Amino acid sequence: MRMRAAVLEEFGAPLEVQELELAEPQAGEVLVRLEACGVCHTDLYTASGADPSGYAPTVLGHEGAGVVERVGEGVGLVQPGDHVVTLFSPQCGECIHCRSPKTNLCLAIREQQNKGYLPDGTTRLSRDGEPIRHFMGTSTFAEYTVMPEIALAKVSPDAPLDRACLFACGLSTGLGAAMFTAKVEPGSTCVVFGAGMVGLGAVAGCRLQGAERIVCVDLSEDRLELARGQGATDVMVGGDDTVDRILEMTDGFGADYTFEATGLVAVMAQAVEAARMGWGLCTIAGVAGKGETLDIVPRLLITGRRVCGSSFGGLKGREQVPQLVERYQRGDIDVDAFISHNLKLDDVNRGFELMEAQDGIRSVIRFS
Ligand SMILES: NC(=O)c1ccc[n+]([C@@H]2O[C@H](COP(=O)([O-])OP(=O)(O)OC[C@H]3O[C@@H](n4cnc5c(N)ncnc54)[C@H](O)[C@@H]3O)[C@@H](O)[C@H]2O)c1
Ligand SMILES: [Zn+2]
Ligand SMILES: [Zn+2]
Repeated sequence: MRMRAAVLEEFGAPLEVQELELAEPQAGEVLVRLEACGVCHTDLYTASGADPSGYAPTVLGHEGAGVVERVGEGVGLVQPGDHVVTLFSPQCGECIHCRSPKTNLCLAIREQQNKGYLPDGTTRLSRDGEPIRHFMGTSTFAEYTVMPEIALAKVSPDAPLDRACLFACGLSTGLGAAMFTAKVEPGSTCVVFGAGMVGLGAVAGCRLQGAERIVCVDLSEDRLELARGQGATDVMVGGDDTVDRILEMTDGFGADYTFEATGLVAVMAQAVEAARMGWGLCTIAGVAGKGETLDIVPRLLITGRRVCGSSFGGLKGREQVPQLVERYQRGDIDVDAFISHNLKLDDVNRGFELMEAQDGIRSVIRFS
């Protein structure tokens, strides 16, 4: 079939919306008609050329939600008409990581996905017979996509897809960092560094876990106001004295849980230092620049602080994305507050501009 998609032709240049061919889903694959897709930093990171593993041409986009149109041979997890959220982090359910409750990093299709191929080592995307590689196994800046069935989370048909799409990346990453990676305990004191999509999600996650005190740190007053809306009890403009101020607020001890959602190594260091002596857990969700390292004084660790990272909020996607969407539907998560702009596919580059200008939290592309 032919469909319209936003193609990254050249790093640093605007995406080009054009017609591509999309082949039928093969065994274990699913054709999804996209309804909505969020514009995330990772798309921009790759488009800019900063991502050392990036390649072009490719169709970007990974925060998608849509409806299953057709399925390939042997597909049993979804059927035509199902509403789905795309997963750049799949869940095969069978690999050693999927069978462990300790991680969500499924190993099944990793290698091919990172290279831009579907699990069988080929692509369904092409232009005039020339194959075009997929991106993050999703390529959702497009009217349609073909994805492995293990990379689709089936969500309630009642959930609006232009909201559900945020659970495909940023929002789930933040919520999950608090709920599934750190497993915040009720009554805790938490500090979240960064109030973008990921940090605001972490604030909401801390609230859902019953944290008593949630401090959010950012440079933008507007974003701190949004953090209050998500459940932050205290907000703070970040600076060199952030750690001292947090220690002051916590009788000199630091917070039970800290979260880093800025991608800046200096802030990661603050998040470690602001964690409580004895048992403070620092969860890092931000993606640092190439080659950057995190400096930690070992004494901080010996005296009981712990540091961990969180990819996609530790969510096992097929199981837990639908659960989070359900909580949204029950009114536990305010998704509307994150959606600042609705765009058409042709305006995808505008989505990048808004993000660079820090104008709003999320732009969502709607396909119909
Ligand atoms: N781990 C994952 O699976 C995953 C998934 C998605 C995104 N990410 C990463 O998470 C990070 C956050 O993503 P986002 O979409 O929320 O980004 P964002 O740019 O919207 O938010 C970052 C926030 O950090 C704030 N900030 C900057 N300097 C600060 C400082 N010194 N102190 C406190 N706050 C400061 C900014 O004002 C901004 O609001 C990025 O690095 C992104 O790449 C990780
Ligand atoms: Zn993302
Ligand atoms: Zn797996």
